Amino acid sequence: MEFKFDVSDIFPSSVVEINPSLIPPGFAGDRRGLTNVVAKVAEVVNAMGDASAAAQGLSNPITTAERLRKADQTVYLLVDREAKGGKGVVTGMLKTGKKSLYIFDRDGQHHHVSPPCVLDFYVHESRQRTGLGKQLFEHMLKKESAQPANLAIDRPSEKLLSFMTKHYGLQAPMRQMNNYVVFDGFFPDVGSADVTGDTPENGTKQAANGLQTYTGPLGRYGAPRPPCSMGQIIHNQTSIQSTETTGPQIASQ
Ligand code: COA
Repeated sequence: MEFKFDVSDIFPSSVVEINPSLIPPGFAGDRRGLTNVVAKVAEVVNAMGDASAAAQGLSNPITTAERLRKADQTVYLLVDREAKGGKGVVTGMLKTGKKSLYIFDRDGQHHHVSPPCVLDFYVHESRQRTGLGKQLFEHMLKKESAQPANLAIDRPSEKLLSFMTKHYGLQAPMRQMNNYVVFDGFFPDVGSADVTGDTPENGTKQAANGLQTYTGPLGRYGAPRPPCSMGQIIHNQTSIQSTETTGPQIASQ
């Protein structure tokens, strides 16, 4: 994607990481220069967000500069600094961030997790299927010390699912009610050394990566039950403390 200003002036490398400050890496200048560069970065983020939304058939963009300013998220931009006679063009955008999510595994057990999430991903139409998406994704994995199977993906398109299969062998996505998708490998084995701090009192296992597994019953079956009055009569008790299973305590992280 082309801009009226020189992209290669503000972005010093082929992949740049933009955080909520919207200040590009390596920026050096006075206050006026800063205001100017931030406005340009905002324009790039908004244009890439709009193009991504159009490519996915969404009526509203997922990525805007305003949203990025307010959230603890990262936008990675892929830049071709040689294109347009050295002025540069932006060819891709990938947005990530951590989200607090409830995710069900294949056994129907639910987990409270705060994984790194792929929130938006776009490569310009003129450059798709040339390996740029993989280049951007690999950069992100390295920067975030993440493995592909550890990620949750927000509303992935069929193209992105195909991308995950082709490059990372991830198949049979587990689609969640919250529209996120995860793959096998997202959940550590319950018996593995990765899972620590077993607390049978509330049926919760805490994994090293912050993943909490609830092993107790869920929903109405897990709700606290009142003492059984018939049981009290049979056992000649005036009051009884319920010893029946109570539901999982859902902790917020
Ligand atoms: N149809 C089906 N699969 C596609 C595809 C398409 N039009 N474009 C890319 N893919 C998948 C395929 O697995 C492809 O491998 P193949 O060409 O051997 O079939 C692989 O991605 C190519 O990998 P790569 O070139 O590294 O990816 P890319 O640069 O095309 O970027 C996307 C991948 C998904 C970011 C890009 O296709 C895109 O921007 N799509 C539109 C927006 C979108 O769907 N974003 C995901 C939203 S969550």
